Amino acid sequence: MSESTSLPIAAKISLTGGSDFWHSTPVPEADLPAVILTDGPHGVRKQAGATDHVGLNESVPATCFPPAVGLASTWNPALVEEVGRALGIESRALGVGVLLGPGANIKRSPLCGRNFEYFSEDPHLTGRLASAYVRGVQSQGVGTSLKHFAANNQETDRMRRSSEVDERTLREIYLRGFGTVVRTARPWTVMCSYNRINGVLASQNHWLLTEVLRDEWGFEGFVVSDWGAVRDRVAALTAGLDLEMPANKAHEDAVRRALAAGEIDEPTIDRAYRRVEAVLRRAHDSVKDADGRFDVDAHHGLARRAAEQAIVLLSNDGVLPLDPADFGDAGSLAVIGEFARTPRYQGAGSSRVNPTRLDNALDALHAVLGRDVPFAPGFTTDPRNPVAEGAHEEAVTLARTAGLVLLFLGLGENHESEGYDRTTLDLPAEQLALLDDVLAVNPNVVVVLSNGSSVLLPFADRVRAVVEGWLLGQAGGPALADVLFGVVNPSGRVAETIPVRLEDCPSYLTFPGDATGVHYGEGLFVGYRGYDAQQREVAFPFGHGLSYTTFAYSDLSVGSAASGVRVEVTVTNTGDRAGREVVQAYVSIDRSSVVRAPRELKGFADVTLEPSDSRRVGIDIPMEDLAYWSVRDHRWVVEAGSYTVAVGASSRDLRLSAAVELAGDEPVRPISLDTTIGEAMAVPGFGEQLMARFAETMGGLGEPDEDMARMLADIPLAAAIGFSGMDPEQFDEVIARANAVRGV
Ligand code: BGC
Repeated sequence: MSESTSLPIAAKISLTGGSDFWHSTPVPEADLPAVILTDGPHGVRKQAGATDHVGLNESVPATCFPPAVGLASTWNPALVEEVGRALGIESRALGVGVLLGPGANIKRSPLCGRNFEYFSEDPHLTGRLASAYVRGVQSQGVGTSLKHFAANNQETDRMRRSSEVDERTLREIYLRGFGTVVRTARPWTVMCSYNRINGVLASQNHWLLTEVLRDEWGFEGFVVSDWGAVRDRVAALTAGLDLEMPANKAHEDAVRRALAAGEIDEPTIDRAYRRVEAVLRRAHDSVKDADGRFDVDAHHGLARRAAEQAIVLLSNDGVLPLDPADFGDAGSLAVIGEFARTPRYQGAGSSRVNPTRLDNALDALHAVLGRDVPFAPGFTTDPRNPVAEGAHEEAVTLARTAGLVLLFLGLGENHESEGYDRTTLDLPAEQLALLDDVLAVNPNVVVVLSNGSSVLLPFADRVRAVVEGWLLGQAGGPALADVLFGVVNPSGRVAETIPVRLEDCPSYLTFPGDATGVHYGEGLFVGYRGYDAQQREVAFPFGHGLSYTTFAYSDLSVGSAASGVRVEVTVTNTGDRAGREVVQAYVSIDRSSVVRAPRELKGFADVTLEPSDSRRVGIDIPMEDLAYWSVRDHRWVVEAGSYTVAVGASSRDLRLSAAVELAGDEPVRPISLDTTIGEAMAVPGFGEQLMARFAETMGGLGEPDEDMARMLADIPLAAAIGFSGMDPEQFDEVIARANAVRGV
């Protein structure tokens, strides 16, 4: 950008920091006005008056779509992209140039207070959905900010704590989803997180912000700090950060002083300036004529469609769907629980949106039945006074005479929020007590849940059905009513495992760490990878969700090409209602030289079918998705071998499987004295030579039995040569020749 070279350096420095809470600094010399960057992710939070970044002060009305926990349960990238487009339209209309989302952090523990803002415990699902979001928003000419980069998997001490993660786990679990989004959806900006990663602040982490993000993944946009994440702007700019938010004049002065002292050079400042300028100019061009108008009704309708697909039917003994004809008289159906009237529909903190409208389930149930339904709140949503005088008793009395009770339970805003983690997975005690007392007088109870992250469901077997509503955005109420009455056939799937006990969670022992850091001790075994490896019972497995119809799987075919693996399976709707099935493909390798989870999600696709209809569903798994991160080679490696692809309706409801042989792309490793006999024997040609040498020196070798062969296999050549009395120098020659033949 030739323009930038003639610009005063002070102007360039000014663009590396915001001008206030939500605006970049205007650069009149470059004819670049201030641009608004604001939250996100599931709605536009443009504050008109007093500003803060934790959702305290009101913002202008915008559609509140389901937060990521809800969007993720749809397992529907096309729908998420549509939501993204609507968010892009609203951003543009409201003059917002960069919408701060999506959040692509992995749900390492269900206790993380901010899980509602993240998609999943799985990087494949996270990467696919976050990419769809980015594509949708950016299709409207406004930017996204992929956050919080990286390894920000808890809120406890989030601005200081070091996430201590081994190299392979970082790559395969915590960075993989981010990498997918950067490479396939090209977000205009990436937001670095507050925390340290293996001791180094993300905002000052050259490896993260430059080597991985730019050099490996080809990121071309700018890196913005999380709000207040920069300690030292000079160090951050040097590491690869481009824009510090919000404004920090002291840091700007420090850059000027560092420049004068030769501690930072002009090209480093120029680089950041050019990156920020390029993106903000594009964003400004899109939003400069913002008129505040968007189709409020259409977006509300889309929020409702998204909510419909986000709802997960966890269990059902056949009581659902309800039939309005069964509830003719006023007393036959009772609704209990304040959440039916006062929905919990989004998370607390910086993502809090001021909705254009808010529909509740109680009104929607009235509408479906065409009359009022008796209601008792049972508890309040006021954290200071959760049980209002007499409310519990009133609800139990109502339950006693009802034919069926719809009991709305969940977590309040105070239970889960940005800024702190939960300490328990239990529902609030007063709600569990209410459930017990209602069940004591009426066995016909359907529980409807509102929560941003998993809760324990020890009562699931005692109630007739459990409907997991997560957080559904502003139109969740009617979506819930439609699912309960079968107007909508539920098709959501959990994007996180629901455990039986907190103690079963793979991260339990090390979450949330202490001042020495949070040690990601479970390594790769996050979420279902851990539960499956340890064969732990779970309440509801990753990928689970019921329907009012049934689906059969047949004719699985799995084929390979250089680009990857093609999976095809026929899905048939064997029930009597139209429905959507989410077909999931999990991959495992039969024998591996490295530690592996028993199975990993590598693809999924949905199909909507009328009763008796069948369709062939195809899933492509790119070869690179089958790679593991080799710590020996510091690169992705696809092992040669037999891979099993299992398809089904959840990670623990796999219906069909087939194997496919892959050649892999393992590096040829030079033979050395550290090579074991087993490894050497696997090298074509070399094994025979080796045995011949040993036989020569030792005067003949008998055929070892199986146990002996196993023992020998792990002996390095150096030791074997020592045992045999062979001259090591003579052996060096043999090794050198073998390596030369193999080109290493
Ligand atoms: C959050 C970010 C958010 C920013 C601006 C921070 O506290 O971690 O997600 O985008 O504030 O509100």
